[in-house]
Amino acid sequence: MNTLSCIAFAIFLLLLIVTRYRKSLPLRWNQHRAQHPGCNDIKRMTPYPAQPIKGRERYRVMMDVRRLDVANWLTVDKNYMDEHVVRSELLQTEKKKVIQCLPESYDACLEALEEVVDFLCQRFPNIFEQKCGSETVIHNNMTGETFTFGGEKRDVDPLEIAVRLTMEDLSILMKNEDDEYYLAASASLFPVGWTVQERIGWTISKLHNPVPLWHQQVANSVSKFLARLTPASPMERSNYFVEVKRPDEDLFEILYRPTSLSEDNPDPAPQDIVIRRERQTFRRLPRTGTIVFGVKTILTTLDELPMQELQNLAKEIKSWPEYVGEYKGREVWGAKALEFCEKKSQLYEQEKEKMGEV
Ligand code: HEM
Repeated sequence: MNTLSCIAFAIFLLLLIVTRYRKSLPLRWNQHRAQHPGCNDIKRMTPYPAQPIKGRERYRVMMDVRRLDVANWLTVDKNYMDEHVVRSELLQTEKKKVIQCLPESYDACLEALEEVVDFLCQRFPNIFEQKCGSETVIHNNMTGETFTFGGEKRDVDPLEIAVRLTMEDLSILMKNEDDEYYLAASASLFPVGWTVQERIGWTISKLHNPVPLWHQQVANSVSKFLARLTPASPMERSNYFVEVKRPDEDLFEILYRPTSLSEDNPDPAPQDIVIRRERQTFRRLPRTGTIVFGVKTILTTLDELPMQELQNLAKEIKSWPEYVGEYKGREVWGAKALEFCEKKSQLYEQEKEKMGEV
């Protein structure tokens, strides 16, 4: 075979392979795109679901931790841009209240930022792109923002860059001389009833002082859990609060609740009662050995809850002892929420009966 016929044979083989696999190519490409959504796909993506409300009959403070779904440590969804606007405004107007980093936390914050950037660029490569040199440059295609960090650059707070990229609030937990974990750095933009300005440096135990039964029921387990966390065993848990909004309240006011859960709306409609869920994640950072704590806030109004969860919520509300109900603001929204649940359950049962008759 001369050279020419060799080349012709190679082209023929190539064509054969392309024709053979052409049908499957678009599918593979689509699958790839689905795994790596772009800016337009994001606008259709619902938030990563928090744990559903379980409907426990007896109130108990629970750790309720499970293995982290690592592919979704950080999430991006259709609310990204709206929440990004709120986050940027908070970092501009309320900076000291929403972000505090003690000096000893710098290396941990930098490591957390590196992890955040690596994760986002791998998970959402159509949205986040990085260039690594002596410094790292991260570009966000959705917001058009670019941040530079690392190398000699120490003028920008790494944790601030991290939370300008994520939908999650991020905190760094470090150990003090008594081997207790404390809040060494925190960017908590969507807090409920507290600010990092007043609580930075507090131990986990002191942070939870206002939580009824915390010390009696979970304090020890939480200490053990944090001590045992390794880089290979990241964990997550979910928490929910119920809050009331005024009908005219905007996203900024709903998400940023530094003083209290419930606004002044004595007669809330179901669409003004908000189930505020927090998906919390815990990861031990391998280099600094510190813990990065992530909190994603997900809002659902009462009328949007599926029937089963609504009934579970009603069960839990009724199970809270008086002082727990007081801490959770039940007197503001409890009666209305239970009334709504009762009515919806009745309608649901009637519908079921009708369907049974047909
Ligand atoms: C496994 C670990 C943890 C558990 C089991 C836990 C559990 C809880 C619970 C049950 C509440 C009360 C919420 C409610 O039902 O109304 C709470 C509130 C709170 N948690 Fe945690 N938490 C954990 C980790 C953390 C961490 C790492 C931080 C650090 C920022 C934190 C900060 C807070 C704060 C600031 C509050 C509000 C307290 C207040 O009312 O002033 N938690 N937590």
